[in-house]
Amino acid sequence: MEFSELIEKRYSVRGYKPDPVEDDKLQQVLEAARLAPTAANRQRLQLIVIRTEGREDELRRIYHEPWFTQPPLVIAACRYPMDPARETKDYTDVDVGIVVDHLILRATELGLGTCWIGAFDPAAAREILGLPDEVEPVVFTTLGYPDADPRTKARKPLSDLVRYERW
Ligand SMILES: Cc1cc2nc3c(=O)[nH]c(=O)nc-3n(C[C@H](O)[C@H](O)[C@H](O)COP(=O)(O)O)c2cc1C
Repeated sequence: MEFSELIEKRYSVRGYKPDPVEDDKLQQVLEAARLAPTAANRQRLQLIVIRTEGREDELRRIYHEPWFTQPPLVIAACRYPMDPARETKDYTDVDVGIVVDHLILRATELGLGTCWIGAFDPAAAREILGLPDEVEPVVFTTLGYPDADPRTKARKPLSDLVRYERW
């Protein structure tokens, strides 16, 4: 699939079939995440692959929407803290965003659906995923076969987003 088609095709999938995600597809999705660039190549993050089957009730404490536990997999992207002795600006959230975007675009290419989820309950995520104190959950995505139609992309026009040469 052409990249231009891929970015048109990706949408937030909020309905999933229960069909399993093939393990080789999961590995390809994770490999795309691994290859993503990060500041100073630090890769200061962890992805947690969570199987939803049988864990629906506790996972819905993390994010309440029923479609959150419809797909067979949910992935949590977590970050380690920055090292203030060696860095002046913390890019780790940016890094996590790039990593998850790689993951999501590869998933789209493989026919899988995803949805960025930032409005989750961090305390519930911490407890249920057993996160160490210094590790912070940043974003989740669902991962499974879509069972929801795409909506038309509502976006600001470029003229509202881009300036040339100076402010
Ligand atoms: C960082 C981030 C957090 C998001 N959090 C949520 C969320 O908690 N729940 C949700 O349903 N969608 C969430 N979304 C999806 C956005 O609402 C969606 O990407 C946007 O409306 C554009 O729609 P599209 O993804 O279908 O193109 C999030 C997206 C991003 C990038």
